[in-house]
Amino acid sequence: MKLVVAANLLLALLLSGGCLPAWTSDTKGHMFGYDDHNGPSHWAEEYETCAGKFQSPIDIEEHLVTQVRLPPLHFHGFQSEPISSTVTNNGHTVMLQMNMSKMASVSGGPLKGNYLFTQLHFHWGYNDSVGSEDTINNHTFPLELHIVMYKENYGTFENATHYKDGLTVLAVFYEIYETENQVYSEIVQLLPFVTMPNSQHQLKKLITLDSLLPMTKHLYFTYNGSLTTPPCLEVVTWIEFKQPILLSHYQM
Ligand SMILES: *[C@@H]1O[C@H](CO)[C@@H](O)[C@H](O)[C@H]1NC(C)=O
Ligand SMILES: *[C@@H]1O[C@H](CO)[C@@H](O)[C@H](O)[C@H]1NC(C)=O
Ligand SMILES: *[C@@H]1O[C@H](CO)[C@@H](O)[C@H](O)[C@H]1NC(C)=O
Ligand SMILES: *[C@@H]1O[C@H](CO)[C@@H](O)[C@H](O)[C@H]1NC(C)=O
Ligand SMILES: *[C@@H]1O[C@H](CO)[C@@H](O)[C@H](O)[C@H]1NC(C)=O
Repeated sequence: MKLVVAANLLLALLLSGGCLPAWTSDTKGHMFGYDDHNGPSHWAEEYETCAGKFQSPIDIEEHLVTQVRLPPLHFHGFQSEPISSTVTNNGHTVMLQMNMSKMASVSGGPLKGNYLFTQLHFHWGYNDSVGSEDTINNHTFPLELHIVMYKENYGTFENATHYKDGLTVLAVFYEIYETENQVYSEIVQLLPFVTMPNSQHQLKKLITLDSLLPMTKHLYFTYNGSLTTPPCLEVVTWIEFKQPILLSHYQM
């Protein structure tokens, strides 16, 4: 797999304009998981696409990364306040969906075309030393955010999953720090309300997508990979911001 560094981390929160994306539900009616009997090494038994060559997550070895110059990334509507935001526990992750008057999008960088926001979610671990899916130089981050976007030309998220360039995921890594990060406080406070699968909660304070991203957005790793949950479709241009965001231990 070719990895390139262009100029840019995860828990589970999803943002979207309405319906949940198809890949968050298990369309085959089987459960997949992260335990010994149903973890990633078993996914290919039920989902043959999980055995492909361009599977995520990966370990990014910085010394093997090629540095390239790409056009700047453009973020559209990332500073707009959504009309409403809903936090949902879908059984696998905590997602944040947003209802926006004009859906936020991203273009430029490694992307050809405009990609519309669908949802955002977090991956975290049982303790502070495990959590992120991708690793950098074998270093695991306690939390990783995935902002999932689909190519506008394909009309719908579902349609986009049939094309190699259908999706892009903006990934943000988190590190532990002594003080609380105000932006994340409201999301963290909601987590106890969404511990049950399929539970939902409205966010009172409306956060913008931009406030969830690191300051340094021009430094990122990018590679062509897959969705990290079944059916593991290899349709994702990953954009992983190099600069981690700092959160307190309590917030993790
Ligand atoms: C989004 O907001 C609009 C305007 O307030 C409303 O009509 C619509 O039902 C909302 N959609 C969702 C999915 O909440
Ligand atoms: C964190 O969890 C991982 C996986 O369960 C375990 O291997 C590791 O020893 C734990 N670390 C600490 C500091 O508890
Ligand atoms: C990461 O782990 C792999 C497998 O154990 C090893 O080959 C590689 O050298 C490690 N990379 C770093 C940067 O430590
Ligand atoms: C899927 O995207 C292709 C390419 O843009 C388009 O031709 C087709 O009509 C789309 N299909 C649906 C069901 O939206
Ligand atoms: C990813 O795939 C696209 C074609 O879909 C290609 O243009 C691009 O060079 C690939 N990127 C990398 C880093 O291999």
